[in-house]
Amino acid sequence: MCGIVGFTGRQQAAPVLLDGLEKLEYRGYDSAGVAVSDIDKNGEPVVEIVKAKGRLKVLREMTDDGRSVPGTCGIGHTRWATHGEPSVVNSHPHYAKDKRIAVVHNGIIENYQQIRERLTKEGYSFLSATDTETVAHLLDKYYTGNPIEAISRMMFHVRGSYALGILFRDRPGEIYAVRKDSPLIVGRSDQGNFIASDVPAILKYTRDVCFIPNLEIVKLTDQEIHFYNVDQEEVEETFSEINWDTEAAEKGGFAHFMLKEIYEQPKAVRDTVSPRIKDGCVDLEELGMTGEELAKISRIQMVACGSAYHVCMTAKYMVEQTARVPVDVDLASEFRYRNAVMEKDTLVIVVSQSGETADSLAALREAKKRGFRVLGIVNVVGSSIAREADSVFYTWAGPEISVATTKAYSTQLAAVYLLAIGLGRARGVIGEEAEKEMTAELMRLPEKIERILEEKERIQWFANKFSHSKDIFFIGRGLDYASSLEGSLKLKEISYIHSEAYAAGELKHGTISLIEDGILVVGVATQKELFEKLISNMVEVKSRGAYVLGVTSYGNYSMEDVANYTIYVPKTLECFAASLVVVPLQLLAYYVALGKGLDVDKPRNLAKSVTVE
Ligand code: F6R
Repeated sequence: MCGIVGFTGRQQAAPVLLDGLEKLEYRGYDSAGVAVSDIDKNGEPVVEIVKAKGRLKVLREMTDDGRSVPGTCGIGHTRWATHGEPSVVNSHPHYAKDKRIAVVHNGIIENYQQIRERLTKEGYSFLSATDTETVAHLLDKYYTGNPIEAISRMMFHVRGSYALGILFRDRPGEIYAVRKDSPLIVGRSDQGNFIASDVPAILKYTRDVCFIPNLEIVKLTDQEIHFYNVDQEEVEETFSEINWDTEAAEKGGFAHFMLKEIYEQPKAVRDTVSPRIKDGCVDLEELGMTGEELAKISRIQMVACGSAYHVCMTAKYMVEQTARVPVDVDLASEFRYRNAVMEKDTLVIVVSQSGETADSLAALREAKKRGFRVLGIVNVVGSSIAREADSVFYTWAGPEISVATTKAYSTQLAAVYLLAIGLGRARGVIGEEAEKEMTAELMRLPEKIERILEEKERIQWFANKFSHSKDIFFIGRGLDYASSLEGSLKLKEISYIHSEAYAAGELKHGTISLIEDGILVVGVATQKELFEKLISNMVEVKSRGAYVLGVTSYGNYSMEDVANYTIYVPKTLECFAASLVVVPLQLLAYYVALGKGLDVDKPRNLAKSVTVE
């Protein structure tokens, strides 16, 4: 999704902007631009904009790495087209009339058509097809010398989501920023001050950041930062220290972020689990809920998108077994509009890596509006979901750069295991001994993931054989069905191979007609009770010509009687098996995509954080 960087300080701005935009490349983009304010040779203030379609290197070439755009204050943007095709004219920044104002924007202005029509009647003309240009002209309309007033008036007229970086021509050296439902941070340093849509963009320069609260306006000069509410009153905000390194947001010798993050899973799971286990028992104190409140939960409603939704599917099986609480799982985009019937003591759990996914955030707000307590399982500290949920359970995966999630997924699984155990205990479903057995095994998961990674060559070899497949199916039952959904999504999003995951028992009800000679079917089987059933399903597809890959735990050697190729993962408690089987499935997707020569970290049409509906 789009990226924003802004800098005002004591050095040339454009090189800093380009540098920051480069760090946001992982979000996906199709064009880029910078706007820099300066004083021209006649002593007049000017704002110069340079934009280019395509990769940042085009913009670098056009601006001689930023050197040809003079000025120490500017804003930059990488655009991922929503309104209007990818083109120079649609790329950001956008000028308002007479180049008085320049704007970069992330998000979507929902009522932009109405505003555009109104402004056109008032004499404004539009160059681009974007929603952003309406904001630039609206600001122009309300600007009479006081930027905070103009921004606040603009906010009363636009609906939708926005993170905006704004330059006013007659205010050289000043950047204005505002956000509603789209992330934006400010950073401060001795060399100057920054805005950015994500931390990695400015981490090279500062760790001292503030996550701008929703609906707040910020004014930055090279020395000062001031925050205002929508009523234009100055407010105080606190800054926090980012405690992860730039290397954590860089590739560190790996060919791709995705592979690096696959390898970071043992650490990420360990970091998520170990602080929550005290003397062998799960400590859920950070939820701010008493044991009694936990015991009173009558139902859990989980909502999320994409891979995080698959975590919820896993959680359904796991939590229902361990804590005997009914769990409903909805895609956030469905939940937000379906006016679900919900019992009084329902706990709503929203799972999100970024904490900014538009549908998940809307689902959270819907649940809160209806009076339900919301727990966020979130990775990005200070993100919108983290701020707005009643309680937050952070996953400590560190920054996840690859568009295809891996380590965040694994930490989300770990988080739901912890919750399930804590709930099971609070409700008296499991005793201390069972709890200790489960937590001890949870602590062993990282080392077991490491063992799978040591055998990655077997998966790589297998993946190479199938990198030119047209269709690949995944089947599983129970928890293994949830893992199959994730394996299939991982594969299709980065390899562009058509793939579907089925609850294996459903095959006979239609899908089996798609099986033909040589088609790859991946059967995931880790659950003892369901193992034989899954083996039967694998026999069914094999007898119709499928090539069968079995993924199971060591010990289940009868898998080899039916599977053409078998991948084993270490034994664990069955309820945690999803954490292990997902690793070979991630590696399979990675190596299949690599075999096709694709850019694994930048899958087409996808963005890391989906902040629009
Ligand atoms: C798939 C993937 C996406 C995300 C989904 C939700 O690899 O990364 O499906 O899981 O967009 O994102 P978050 O977790 O940020 O809400």
